[in-house]
Amino acid sequence: MKKYVNAPLPFQGQKRRFVKQLEEMAMQQKKGAVFVDLFGGSGLVSHTIKQARPDCRVVYNDFDHYSKRLEHIGRTNEMLRALRPIVATIPPKSRIDEPVRSQVIAEVERWHKSGFVDWFSLSSNLLFTMNYVHSFEEFRKETFYNRVRKDDYNADGYLEGVEVVSMDYRRLFEQYRLVPDVVFILDPPYLSTDCGTYTCCGPRLYGANSDYWRLSDYLDVLKCMHGTKFVYFTSRKSTIVELAEWIAKNDFHGNPFEGAKVYRQHVSGVVLNYEDMMLVKAA
Ligand SMILES: C[S@@+](CC[C@H](N)C(=O)[O-])C[C@H]1O[C@@H](n2cnc3c(N)ncnc32)[C@H](O)[C@@H]1O
Repeated sequence: MKKYVNAPLPFQGQKRRFVKQLEEMAMQQKKGAVFVDLFGGSGLVSHTIKQARPDCRVVYNDFDHYSKRLEHIGRTNEMLRALRPIVATIPPKSRIDEPVRSQVIAEVERWHKSGFVDWFSLSSNLLFTMNYVHSFEEFRKETFYNRVRKDDYNADGYLEGVEVVSMDYRRLFEQYRLVPDVVFILDPPYLSTDCGTYTCCGPRLYGANSDYWRLSDYLDVLKCMHGTKFVYFTSRKSTIVELAEWIAKNDFHGNPFEGAKVYRQHVSGVVLNYEDMMLVKAA
């Protein structure tokens, strides 16, 4: 089996920096352990664990239908092969201006009209870093850059032996919660401070399926850690670990805001759009 240290097709948030640690964790588990990758994303975590422990069941929750992108990898390669000569005169990483820009749009439209287009992969070949679109309508309005890769994508054997499912993580957790020696991999979308003010953040990152994640959604994930074996990914931007430590240290119970009167003020401007709140429990 070929070992991948990166997901074969672009995916934001893939855990490529933790491959070694994941292998170590997998090697330490009992014979017959079952790994359930609740927030599978690109499948890199599932792939890594299956490589390390081919004897174990590994369940990959493909919530974003990444495997559909893998299925169409041949078509994506063909589309990029067709685009390479069109952008050949543009230096790498430079902006693509007219008349080449119109030629790029016409070529992509041809692929769009004839079937599946992997917009995420296409974006990482033609848009500015970290810019992604989900449709032709979005794509045609963007500024293009020549970031077209020189070689084909290859995903041979990537999900070999991995069980692929696609559902909300809570449902999958319920299905496996009582399975002996189960290890849950918990890698929810990032809790970014910016996300709170821009509701488009979730869908833009992961595609039409994912809704914006609120703090309570992150806290819900903690329920999957109660009495289970787990691997949890987070970042220092997220304050979940700090919050959990604080609650434990202060033996905190109950909701201090229960019964409080809530006043809301909407704040909006060119870049700002949020709500200020005043909670009063002073009677
Ligand atoms: C940080 S990414 C996971 C990355 C993954 N570990 C990897 O290495 O590629 C978080 C994933 O959770 C998915 N997701 C969002 N809401 C979900 C839900 N309710 N149930 C399952 N997955 C969800 C997102 O679409 C995204 O793919």
